[in-house]
Amino acid sequence: METVVSGIRSTGNLHLGNYYGAVQNFVKMQHEYNCYFFIADLHSLTTHPTPANLHSSVKSVLVEYLAAGIDPEKATIYVQSDVPEIAELYLYMNMNAYLGELERSTSFKDKVRANPDNVNAGLLTYPVLMAADILIHKATKVPVGKDQEQHLEMARTFGNRFNRLYNTEYFKEPVAFNFSHNLVKIPGLDGKGKMGKSEGEGNAVYLADAPEVIRKKVMRAVTDGGPTVENQQKPEEIQNLFDLMKVVSTQDTYDHFNNLYNTCQVRYGDLKKQLAEDMINATAPIRERINAIAADTDYLRKVAQLGAHKARESASKTLREVREIIGFRSF
Ligand code: TRP
Repeated sequence: METVVSGIRSTGNLHLGNYYGAVQNFVKMQHEYNCYFFIADLHSLTTHPTPANLHSSVKSVLVEYLAAGIDPEKATIYVQSDVPEIAELYLYMNMNAYLGELERSTSFKDKVRANPDNVNAGLLTYPVLMAADILIHKATKVPVGKDQEQHLEMARTFGNRFNRLYNTEYFKEPVAFNFSHNLVKIPGLDGKGKMGKSEGEGNAVYLADAPEVIRKKVMRAVTDGGPTVENQQKPEEIQNLFDLMKVVSTQDTYDHFNNLYNTCQVRYGDLKKQLAEDMINATAPIRERINAIAADTDYLRKVAQLGAHKARESASKTLREVREIIGFRSF
């Protein structure tokens, strides 16, 4: 069975875009691959979270991934800082990562521009830590979005360089992995582009949002003055609402409103009401599980311990072999 690794940065709650665009696929992958899904809390230290914030973000990611259907008996779900072997491999990989290539990373340059007062070494070597995350389990498949492809390329570079330096074929090349054939597009509610948490309040619907909040957000979604010609093309903001309907509503509902649109009889108020109710229903089971799991401290502890145990089993084997290859010998 091939090994899949993906890290989730512990920043904020999951929205419908994360769920339908990524997590739903993770849930399917866990049946067919040897999956490791971890919460990247070491990575989050580059922005210096407070201890309370660090813990609560790790907890919400853990809770929401479990609620979305990642099964801790099938996939290995763990907190990165529970696996110190990753930090040790990161140290070794740092010896083979060069300043020039790290400085050329697009995400590094973006972060320097955004926060010129916090250009710490951890930020510079973020791609090395990410490479260690992947190589520690010798993963070959990494489900990530487009924005992470350069990091993945660097992981291949570091792994290959290690192999060359020690004249071995130890690390395999990890490649980006799109499990689903038809990638679903989840637009936001602000009329333009995809759903995202940086696009401002109201654009994203979170799995943890209460029904009243979802209703309010959907009713405020951007629309236009309505169609004036039969079968006219939909402007982006209207197409977005239909795209969301495609995901959460039945085909009948979609066809019903599509026909009303095409015959210029659509009332956006009705459409949004229906969309909001369908969103609420589609996410209800996850929302209920989020609340139940978040309250169950014993269960969360068991899941984290089981995940750490399984991840460390795989990680310590790799590290033993890596230390051997590098040439560490005990007396
Ligand atoms: N850098 C990734 C992101 O920002 C998160 C991440 C960290 C990751 N380590 C990883 C993803 C290893 C895949 C594999 O989304």
